[in-house]
Amino acid sequence: MIKIQIPATSANLGAGFDALGLALSYYNYVNMEEADGVNIVSLDGTYVPDDESNLVYATAKTLYQICGRPFHGLHIEQINNIPMARGMGSSSACIIAGLVGANRLMGDPLTLDELVNLSAQIEGHPDNTAPALLGGIVTAVFDGKSVHWVKQEVFTTLKFIVAVPDFELKTEQARACLPKEISHRDAVYNLSRAALFSASLLTGKYENLRTAVDDKLHQPYRMELIPHAAEVFDTAYSLGAYAAYISGAGPSIMMIVDAENCFFAGKLRFALDRAGLSAWQVHELHIDNAGTREPS
Ligand code: HSE
Repeated sequence: MIKIQIPATSANLGAGFDALGLALSYYNYVNMEEADGVNIVSLDGTYVPDDESNLVYATAKTLYQICGRPFHGLHIEQINNIPMARGMGSSSACIIAGLVGANRLMGDPLTLDELVNLSAQIEGHPDNTAPALLGGIVTAVFDGKSVHWVKQEVFTTLKFIVAVPDFELKTEQARACLPKEISHRDAVYNLSRAALFSASLLTGKYENLRTAVDDKLHQPYRMELIPHAAEVFDTAYSLGAYAAYISGAGPSIMMIVDAENCFFAGKLRFALDRAGLSAWQVHELHIDNAGTREPS
């Protein structure tokens, strides 16, 4: 049985729309072996499709077909901690699990670069799939066929506190609300901030992060789809967060916080409860530099 641990991811990082993403210490687990037919089990009670539409299964089957190998079915066991349709890379985690699992079962015919490329082709953009596979912070350009990427490990004590609302926001809906065109001025606004984000995170110039996560490509439009988002942003900054941004396509809101801001998560929990947002979950996470691996 192949065993795989896949990290959650936070894409965009504010201004780096479809280009930047990082892996976080929150994991899905998938066990996989060849079988006759479809046999899919959820080990933690989370609903997962138990037929061919299951994304882990479908992705693994695709890789067998691409490699020209006979495929008779799979037995898959899943633990799905990463909440679905919340902007934390749950579908990318399934895609990566399917690809890495199938690749290992076949004796690793695909290279790491080929897995990065194929996962982006399946998902449509690389900013969740690449960090889910590679870990760290990943800067990626997808030219429609190949991903040109750099993974950087991040050695920081920063905490990533995520507020996860109790409703889903599908990526298709969150992309449908975006403008088809933007001005030259707004393009400069975003590209300068996206570059500032990585440079500041990697050099410890955290005071830049609030400016770096601001953007004109997606967050102003997506805020409309996330009730109470503005309140959560205000609370994050009032509690001393370096930065707050919509994680991926939303609706979760990610906050970057100094390690010495000891009680941030507890204070956020208290503030959300007082604002009537008890259904929002709060998780304290850190950057995962290892990416997808065998669980220890
Ligand atoms: N970059 C993507 C988006 C991430 O914001 O739509 C979600 O998959």
